[in-house]
Amino acid sequence: MTILDGKKISEDIKNEIADEVQKMKSNGEKVPHLAAIIVGNDGASLTYVGSKVKACERVGFESTLIKMPSTTSETELLKKIKELNENDDIDGFIVQLPLPKQIDTQHVLMCIDPSKDVDGFHPENFGKMALDMSSFIPATPFGILELLERYNVPTDGKHTVVIGRSHIVGRPMSILMGRKGFPGNSTVTLTHSHTKNINQITTQADIIITALGVPNYLKAEMIKDDAVIIDVGITRVVDENSEKGYRITGDVDFDNVVKKASFITPVPGGVGPMTIAMLLKNTLLAREQKRLKV
Ligand code: GUN
Repeated sequence: MTILDGKKISEDIKNEIADEVQKMKSNGEKVPHLAAIIVGNDGASLTYVGSKVKACERVGFESTLIKMPSTTSETELLKKIKELNENDDIDGFIVQLPLPKQIDTQHVLMCIDPSKDVDGFHPENFGKMALDMSSFIPATPFGILELLERYNVPTDGKHTVVIGRSHIVGRPMSILMGRKGFPGNSTVTLTHSHTKNINQITTQADIIITALGVPNYLKAEMIKDDAVIIDVGITRVVDENSEKGYRITGDVDFDNVVKKASFITPVPGGVGPMTIAMLLKNTLLAREQKRLKV
């Protein structure tokens, strides 16, 4: 059994990116600049965005964090997005999700310049991804692909079961695992809240990617021997013994599932750190594309 160590691989990727930035600096080139907009005060979202900004510092990127109050209107947010679209110094930016309910998320994402959409959420990027064209791939699925690739996890001809059909993880993951190439060439089943007899499906899976947000959902009896388990869940559960008052729990009943799996991602330290590393990678790509255009 092999633990897919996202913490270590994400550090490797950040070191590779930091080396690139050093080269840019010594050539007198502009370094990549990532901006992030966060609307409201959700604790988890503030933590994630904070980690993204910190990661920028770590690799030598410039970063800008824009905090807007939870009462922000859609018009106010769109005005800020227009500013970032038009600001030549910004190479890429993200709008942290979820957004408050007075704001139409899909409309907001459609107003981001696709060439700066380093989350890969704009329909142009999502459509290109589905058509095997060059595009920004959403950071979490991109991070999972990178883990599978760096650990040489076999995916060709395997049955991959994705649990959860979110636009951020499940849906793109189902497309990417079925596409030609490595990682890919899998036969994919996308399961969701309306799926019947899910255990019958998961016990047939060679690879399970779970992105539900239900702590300890995937039990040992739901998987077959030697399955590959990718846990995208990051739920905060109350833990009075911890300093912060909570701990992060994945979708997988790790202590039992680990005994049957061939490869498995831990939580924390699996997919989570990869997401941030791949956002940096997308920002580096955005900078590079902009440099080639000028
Ligand atoms: N919320 C949860 N995951 C993500 C992500 O990858 N990007 C953004 N913008 N918001 C998120």
